[in-house]
Amino acid sequence: MTEQFDLDRYGRTQLEARRGEKWARDGSAAIPMWVADMDFPLAPPIRRALEEAIATGDLGYPVSSLEPTLAAAFADWERSRHGLDFDPVSVVVTTDVVQAIYFAIDALSAPGEGILTLTPAYPPYFGALDEKSRKLVAHDLAIVDGAYRFDAAALRALVAAERPRLMLLCNPHNPTGRVFTRTELSELASIAIDADLVVISDEIHCDLVYPGSTHIPIATLGDEIAQRTITLSSASKAFNLAGLRCAVAACGTADLAARLRATPKRQRGRANNLGILAAITAWQEGTPWLDAVLAHLAANRERVTGVLAGLESVTCIPPEATYLAWLDLRRSGLGDDPASVIAHRARVTLMAGTEFGAAGRGHARLNFATTTAVLDEALERLAGFLGAR
Ligand SMILES: Cc1ncc(COP(=O)(O)O)c(C=O)c1O
Repeated sequence: MTEQFDLDRYGRTQLEARRGEKWARDGSAAIPMWVADMDFPLAPPIRRALEEAIATGDLGYPVSSLEPTLAAAFADWERSRHGLDFDPVSVVVTTDVVQAIYFAIDALSAPGEGILTLTPAYPPYFGALDEKSRKLVAHDLAIVDGAYRFDAAALRALVAAERPRLMLLCNPHNPTGRVFTRTELSELASIAIDADLVVISDEIHCDLVYPGSTHIPIATLGDEIAQRTITLSSASKAFNLAGLRCAVAACGTADLAARLRATPKRQRGRANNLGILAAITAWQEGTPWLDAVLAHLAANRERVTGVLAGLESVTCIPPEATYLAWLDLRRSGLGDDPASVIAHRARVTLMAGTEFGAAGRGHARLNFATTTAVLDEALERLAGFLGAR
């Protein structure tokens, strides 16, 4: 299956010629394993759809009529793949997931109010809270029984003390790669219901889950939680379309949808037509390609965890989802920001753990969604540098 899509097709020269920030930012000085983009050829149906639009010059102003088709494709995908059922009318289309988070924060909380999130957390969450003058209410995940987990009693106590307005959940979780279980999600849902929190559930990594784990949208856990949840997603992670600007928010009620849409249309901007087209095609025809990518990523995950397991200075719990490995480098002696030393000395660019909040000190995030050859070279460099520590 993997060969059919030739996911190892691009060599270093082709990748280094890419204009996306992953490869363009640092030139050839280091192997980029930071921002969450993949290095594979596009899924063939998506490529065909985009090429056809370009060949016919179909690049006029976006038409609203594409949005219901997008919402329906998203609803079908979520229902058949993840068991999440919602009315496509409740879907708000945005240019990206982070933009939807900003709208939700604006619509559903006031400056000074708290937003609960599990840390370490995806860096733009901190930026959103900061720029919107909301208070971060953070609960650190900790390794318990070999997995990153929250402490439900401590979380409840934190919510009682800080009285946040919103819960910003990331499931599957970036950067730890955790896929929260039904029991854990039920705890979170119960905390949200008891404290009257609206849940913004960022599920953008939901299609990048490895065998042994199952993604459960929190909104599937009953009407009470569904009605207070906004499920955010996009085809951009699983199908590698981040530059095309299109994301979706499935709102638990018409009222939540109306509140998200309250920002004037012109101020919200519009999703890109090509992005909408690509997402529709991904959700309607992308499964064979996604299956091949998941097999490739699973093999890469084994290579990464296999190499790192041999290094005293690193701890890495295999991610249950995402193509991101969260490296605990606190034993390496490289200080709070090991990524900066590693970039310089091993010439591999990881994402600095400190960007994920205080809980990320001494950590770094490694993106392994690349070709076998690039991954092997990066791992060799990392093992060479870290093995000596
Ligand atoms: C958890 C999470 N949310 C959102 C995003 C970004 O999504 P978008 O580009 O649609 O804003 C990412 C990107 O890696 C992510 O990991």
